[in-house]
Amino acid sequence: MSVDEDESFAPGAGSVDRSPGPRGRSLVTLDDYRVAARPLVEPSAWDYVDGGSGDETTLRENEAGYRRYRLRPRVLVDVSHCDPRTTLLGCPVALPVGVAPTGFQGLVSPEGELACARAAGEVGALMVVSTYATARLEDIARVARGPLWLQLYVFRDRATSEDLVRRAEAAGYRALVVTVDAPVQGRRVRDLRNAFALPPGLAAANFPQAPSEHPSAELGERVAQRVDPALTWDDLAWLSSLTRLPIVLKGVLTAEDAARAAELGVAAIVVSNHGGRQLDGSVTPLDALPEVVAAVAGRCEVLVDGGVRRGSDVLVALALGARAVLVGRPVLWGLAVSGAEGAREVLSILRAELETAMALSGRPDLASVDANLLHPAPRPPYHPL
Ligand code: GLV
Repeated sequence: MSVDEDESFAPGAGSVDRSPGPRGRSLVTLDDYRVAARPLVEPSAWDYVDGGSGDETTLRENEAGYRRYRLRPRVLVDVSHCDPRTTLLGCPVALPVGVAPTGFQGLVSPEGELACARAAGEVGALMVVSTYATARLEDIARVARGPLWLQLYVFRDRATSEDLVRRAEAAGYRALVVTVDAPVQGRRVRDLRNAFALPPGLAAANFPQAPSEHPSAELGERVAQRVDPALTWDDLAWLSSLTRLPIVLKGVLTAEDAARAAELGVAAIVVSNHGGRQLDGSVTPLDALPEVVAAVAGRCEVLVDGGVRRGSDVLVALALGARAVLVGRPVLWGLAVSGAEGAREVLSILRAELETAMALSGRPDLASVDANLLHPAPRPPYHPL
């Protein structure tokens, strides 16, 4: 981690009153963490984390999409033990919720990804580490106690990507998550207005900075210089030839692409619109999930991310055919509030809410969660936002 604490930018420097109120705990929901985190994060870094692209329509709809669904609870089922465990690519996890790859976690917490990996491990959750981590992937692996996947941007300079693949293998990462929805950066209006650049002392830790990458250059420009916009399906064969690690495609939203990915033998798909940060106006992951699940027809695992804020949201995603969900921003809120402890608490809240929702809907294990859990007529598309 390379945050210089002497700089004016000092993530996690603020404090939040997390003491119990007169009648109980103060941070009980993910949204409580969002509210608590906001004043602790430097405003332009907050905008980078919080924002989406364009009018942020997709960003808003990702969350709103979950509110369209209603659950059909079954009663008189023994729910004295609810078990949210599952496996992801054959690896046991304690819950069907993993940490989505979000870049530059050092922006919100001095220990960044190291704290996040500790938190995920303590909860028994998968963590997907970003190419743009602010800690070295080997250091993250050293502190992790749970499974790690590495998110990979394929760079114009293939040697840099190849090096990341080799290092991920050597460090024990279990899969490569290739992001395919970001050949160019979405127009993130807040970042453009802020001319958002990384603060001094903070950098991507996993590849050397090119001489042309001025440290104060806007982040979007720096990413755009690196990521190869010419990547196609043909390049997946190149990637597979480099590694025995399973390949996961993140950012698929259509049956057509899902079917092609399954034919090519990918191990999993993450149905995602990049947290509303890429194509504004795209379908929500929940909208896309049923067609993706149908198109792959069991040939690969399907995960989904974007907008999950409640344990009952996890149930909805699983009922629509996802094997697990990934959460991004909420984990950053936890990190901002109290480092590893906060991130762990966010994941624990989701698990507690999920277990309650499983019990109250009469689904004591994940095998009993299927489309029958959902009311057949989702409410009209979107409420006014
Ligand atoms: C990077 O993937 C970002 O969304 O900022």
